[in-house]
Amino acid sequence: MKILFLNGPNLNLLGTREPDKYGTVTLDNIETFVNAEAKKLKVKTAFYQTNIEGELVDKIQQAKGKYDGIVINPAAYTHTSVAIRDALLAVEIPTVEIHLSNIHKREEFRTNSMTAPACIGQITGFGAFSYKLGLIAIVDYLKSLEQD
Ligand code: DQA
Repeated sequence: MKILFLNGPNLNLLGTREPDKYGTVTLDNIETFVNAEAKKLKVKTAFYQTNIEGELVDKIQQAKGKYDGIVINPAAYTHTSVAIRDALLAVEIPTVEIHLSNIHKREEFRTNSMTAPACIGQITGFGAFSYKLGLIAIVDYLKSLEQD
C-alpha cells in the first residue's frame, strides 16, 4: 500500500511560522514521525511540499496508478482551489484532508473547504498529530475496501 502526502503553501515554514497556531515542529520532523508510523503499519509513503497550486494538481494527476491513497494539507488552497478539488475528483484516489489548526475555529473564510467535498473526510485541529491521524485514517479506509 502506497500513500502520498501532499503539502501546500507556507508549510515549508513550519517550525517558525505562527507557532501559536501551527506549533514548533518542522515539516521534516513531521515527515520523520509519519514514516515511523508508516513502517509500523507496513505501508510506503512519499512526502511532497510546494507553494504552487498547479504543482499540487500535477502531483494529484500523476498519483493515478501509483498511489492507493492521498493525505493532503492544501493549506491556503483549501479555501480557494477549484483546481485541486477537480483534480481529486478526477483521479478518484481516496483522500483524507488534514489541517494542523482547527479551521472551523478560526476566521470565517477558513471555515469553508473547497477541497473537503472531494475527500473521504477531514481531520483538523490536532497540530502535527493530524498527520499521523490522517495516515491511520487512510490506511484503515483502504484496508476496509480490501475486505469488501
Ligand atoms: C492550514 C490552515 C489553513 O487555513 C492555512 O492557510 C494553512 C495551514 C492548517 O494546517 O491548519 O496554511 O491548512
